[in-house]
Amino acid sequence: MIDLFSQQRHAELCEEINRHNRLYYNQDQPEISDAEYDALFRELQEIEAAFPELVTPESPSQKVGALPTEKFAPSIHAIPMLSLKNAKNAEDFRDFDSSIRENFLARSTALEYVCEMKLDGVAVELTYVDGKLLKASTRGDGFVGEDITENVKTIAEIPHTLAPPFPELLDVRGEIFIELDDFQALNRAQESAGDKTFANPRNAAAGSLRQLDAKITAKRPLKIFCYGVGRMQGIETSSQIETLQLLDRLGLPVNLQETNCVLGADQVISVYRQLQERRNTLPFEIDGVVVKVNETALQQELGAVSRSPRWAIALKFPPRQAQTIVESIGLQVGRTGAITPVAHLKPVIVSGVTVSRASLHNWDEITRLDLHIGDHVIVERAGDVIPDVVKVLPELRTGKEQPIQQPKVCPECNTPVHWNPDEVVPRCSNPYCPAQTIERIKHFVSRDAMDIEGLGEKQLAQLIERGKVTDVADLYLLTRDDLFAMDRMGDTLAEKLLTAINASKTRPLSRLLFALGIRHVGKNTAKILARRFASLDQLAECSVDQLVAIHEIGDKVAKSIVDYFASPEKIMLLEKLHRAGVQPQTEAVIQQDGPLTGKVFVITGTLSNWSRKEAEELVEKAGGRASGSVSKKTDYVLAGENAGSKLEKAEKLGVEVIDETTFARMVGVSL
Ligand code: IVH
Repeated sequence: MIDLFSQQRHAELCEEINRHNRLYYNQDQPEISDAEYDALFRELQEIEAAFPELVTPESPSQKVGALPTEKFAPSIHAIPMLSLKNAKNAEDFRDFDSSIRENFLARSTALEYVCEMKLDGVAVELTYVDGKLLKASTRGDGFVGEDITENVKTIAEIPHTLAPPFPELLDVRGEIFIELDDFQALNRAQESAGDKTFANPRNAAAGSLRQLDAKITAKRPLKIFCYGVGRMQGIETSSQIETLQLLDRLGLPVNLQETNCVLGADQVISVYRQLQERRNTLPFEIDGVVVKVNETALQQELGAVSRSPRWAIALKFPPRQAQTIVESIGLQVGRTGAITPVAHLKPVIVSGVTVSRASLHNWDEITRLDLHIGDHVIVERAGDVIPDVVKVLPELRTGKEQPIQQPKVCPECNTPVHWNPDEVVPRCSNPYCPAQTIERIKHFVSRDAMDIEGLGEKQLAQLIERGKVTDVADLYLLTRDDLFAMDRMGDTLAEKLLTAINASKTRPLSRLLFALGIRHVGKNTAKILARRFASLDQLAECSVDQLVAIHEIGDKVAKSIVDYFASPEKIMLLEKLHRAGVQPQTEAVIQQDGPLTGKVFVITGTLSNWSRKEAEELVEKAGGRASGSVSKKTDYVLAGENAGSKLEKAEKLGVEVIDETTFARMVGVSL
């Protein structure tokens, strides 16, 4: 029989441990020491050993810390959520205006435009069926977002039911944001609770929406402005402004007061200038004006290119600047040993956000700016990125400013640095430098590389410190005992980590290539290589000449790849990975000697037999290459229905245009 005291204590412990897990894993802000945590955990295990009926799947003893295991479900947008092209000043906007009028609408008179504030938050889609809020999702990649319905339902401003009469089906698009005052209050509250503060209102909004516990979202001061629709059935509108008025009438928050319907580019630019003047007095951060062609019929005529509509543009404000003082220079050691300088600043508020560090990129930048410690500087913040130092104010110097010394030794391991004359950064030449090792492994396990979940900085630091991991191959030699020896590692978590590490052994070759951190081989280059080479061995045998023969590979990349596979240390590492069972999946699709070897195809228009992607794959399987734009180097243009400017260009350049039947014959498939 469980006694009441044990039962109650068990519940308390579960709650307490879960809270500490969140603080430690998700917020990087532990409140208690590891020893105190272990004591709580042991007490929990003791109670559970005595009363096994208390062991539920919810108990922290059965769970994987607070690692983001329960991800949000994917949610497909019925109509893709496009993004916007940017205009960075009035002149850019005039170009946009004349281009759409002249090139696409053959119109000399002014167009009607709707100007909306461009809020900096998180784009979401709300789906209402029969007037009821059924689903909410993030924008994601535009095609698939994350289902955040439960969280969105806690936002007071968002109605759960629409005011009748409503469309039977409606996808509403809008921006969820946090006002500047609310943001500061939230950060103060986070700070006093010992929780992590947010870098800017946008991150705070995004972080609040992605909470796994909707109760936390409910407490956050989230707001929304709706600015568009996806599917809409049952009611029709014939212009953007009518759509906004409809959304407003349905009870959705719309920033109608600050929306202007104007005629022609001059009036747009005047709205833009006025808003820029008022930017500092607004309760929220805006980064520009979204300008949309008002009439729906014209929008349809204009259509979209790649992933943005031709009928709208984001007319951006120049980045915010502020003046402050450089207090010191910090040094960061990257995974290739590059030592980059970072300016530590006297904290200054730039668009509602406190800034205390700025990137300096490299040592040439310091010379170019003639930067000294103690200098007054202008920093500039574009969006949510770390600000740049754009200018030094030498007139404010007092004479006490100190020159910035270039490092002679690595700040992490004290090894003398090596400075290659044609590089802008010095490098730590110690291949065993702990800072480099951890950065290399962090890169190896990262989401776009081998995607091993659960090995964060803290876990890696422990493994490295204990000598369990000295290179990426050691990850595959870790035993259950090695993992158990780590802080806060229970049965389930250790099991999960081992499974994750194991699963990564057979990732596609492109991921391994990227994960290895070969210089100049980014995600894209890795993909290109993996399509050409069936294995690492095949790639390793390649010469610089053979590599540069691949269209997208330049000299620098080719040389770096050849150097990598020639280095004895790397050869040993690759052998070790191989011995440990790492066997990447081949993705090679391009035949070295197919019927179309060396031929460049451009595919345009709508095909009736394949999607564009499928047609491109057929080209590559036959040894050819698919390109996005027509040039003199193009051999064939495969034109489907409604082929537009690419077809015209092909005709102008005299490139051979083929139809689907000819194409099928060339790639050797029957229709
Ligand atoms: S319209 C096809 N209107 O800006 C139209 N977007 O770069 C696409 N945004 O993802 C969006 N305010 O997050 C539109 N009034 C507004 C907006 C707005 C902010 C954001 C939105 C979108 C991004 C596009």
